[in-house]
Amino acid sequence: MPRKIRLGILGGGGDSLIGVLHRVAAHMFDSYEIVGAVFSPVHEESLAFARQIDLPTDRIYPDFDTLVAEEMKLPESERMEVCAVLTPNFLHFPMAKKLLEHGFHVICEKPMTTTYEEAKILEDAQRSAGTVFAVTHTYTGYPMVRQMREMIRAGELGRIHKVDAQYYQGWINPIIHDKEKRSSVWRLDPKKAGISSCMGDIGVHAFNMVEYTTGLKIRSLLCDFNYLYDDNQMDVDGTVLVRLDKHVKGVIRASQVATGEENGLAISIYGEKGGLRWEQERPNFLYRLSDSGPLQVYKPGHAYNSPLSLDGTKLPPGHPEGIFDAMGNIYRGVARAIRGEAYNDGEFPTITDGVRGLDFIEATVASHKGGNIWVDLD
Ligand SMILES: NC(=O)c1ccc[n+]([C@@H]2O[C@H](COP(=O)([O-])OP(=O)(O)OC[C@H]3O[C@@H](n4cnc5c(N)ncnc54)[C@H](O)[C@@H]3O)[C@@H](O)[C@H]2O)c1
Repeated sequence: MPRKIRLGILGGGGDSLIGVLHRVAAHMFDSYEIVGAVFSPVHEESLAFARQIDLPTDRIYPDFDTLVAEEMKLPESERMEVCAVLTPNFLHFPMAKKLLEHGFHVICEKPMTTTYEEAKILEDAQRSAGTVFAVTHTYTGYPMVRQMREMIRAGELGRIHKVDAQYYQGWINPIIHDKEKRSSVWRLDPKKAGISSCMGDIGVHAFNMVEYTTGLKIRSLLCDFNYLYDDNQMDVDGTVLVRLDKHVKGVIRASQVATGEENGLAISIYGEKGGLRWEQERPNFLYRLSDSGPLQVYKPGHAYNSPLSLDGTKLPPGHPEGIFDAMGNIYRGVARAIRGEAYNDGEFPTITDGVRGLDFIEATVASHKGGNIWVDLD
């Protein structure tokens, strides 16, 4: 058994949504140990949380700059090797950039940065550093999403015609109608979230799923946002027409005010020989549609699945695996890359996916603000 990789965590404190997912994922395949962290901008809170989860407090630092300075003083054999950036969006860029400049591997939450320009700078920094960089588009870690990618790669749908990705949530509905409440949410504050709320937070996952499963690139788009109130600067709903190629078109729909929706991410890809559909709230079912035979349902863990899908399944068929497992699969891919072991390029989203995401987010805003015009992606 290779030794564990020394992991640091930024953000992801006890009050956070995503922290527990990363901690569980890191431990899932016994590949990482958490050696240091800044869980919160308030040192006392970071220390209290470390005690609560039984972590030694000697490397729980008061802030990010101190973490880097102190870790660099340690011998390489003790120093943190990879750091997970789980803070609100505006901190991803300065933190990830400095980590790369000091030779750390980085696992970064999405959206990778708040602007496309920052994303490109980060890409250059990663190229210079030569370290591993993953962006946690969690849904790519699901076995049946991997299966979808591999079936499309193998040509099982034939020529692709149409893509349709939907990410519907409703959680902003009770907040958006109250001026005071909406100013208390960082996802609705452009200084913290970036130029988009809905597309930046969830539309970007749907975009990533289209490119991940089809292997195709979205070339241009036309977006229509809804802000619900004139004084709200951040989109809470949007519909995006996308063109991937001259004859491959589709739609990305995202909403944070789709009342009653929870985490309704769904993707359908249609081709000449059939269609594939996957829904995040029923992740163990991959539907294969055909116009010449009955509907088929693929499930994880069966030998008919691709090696990439089977690699992401831990238990025999019939044992449901979910979002923790998906993130665990991403962490496992990153561990393989850090250790210099062989891995499949679909095991974790990279900085290229992060850059594409920011290109998409900025294009949706430019399209809407330009009067719902077609905008090209790079
Ligand atoms: N991959 C996914 O599916 C997914 C899901 C949810 C959130 N996210 C992303 O994860 C990130 C965090 O989202 P969240 O919902 O957990 O946010 P959150 O507001 O619930 O938690 C943010 C955490 O960051 C900490 N923090 C804030 N400033 C800090 C600083 N200067 N130094 C250290 N810690 C600091 C806070 O104390 C808190 O613990 C966002 O970028 C979000 O887009 C991704």
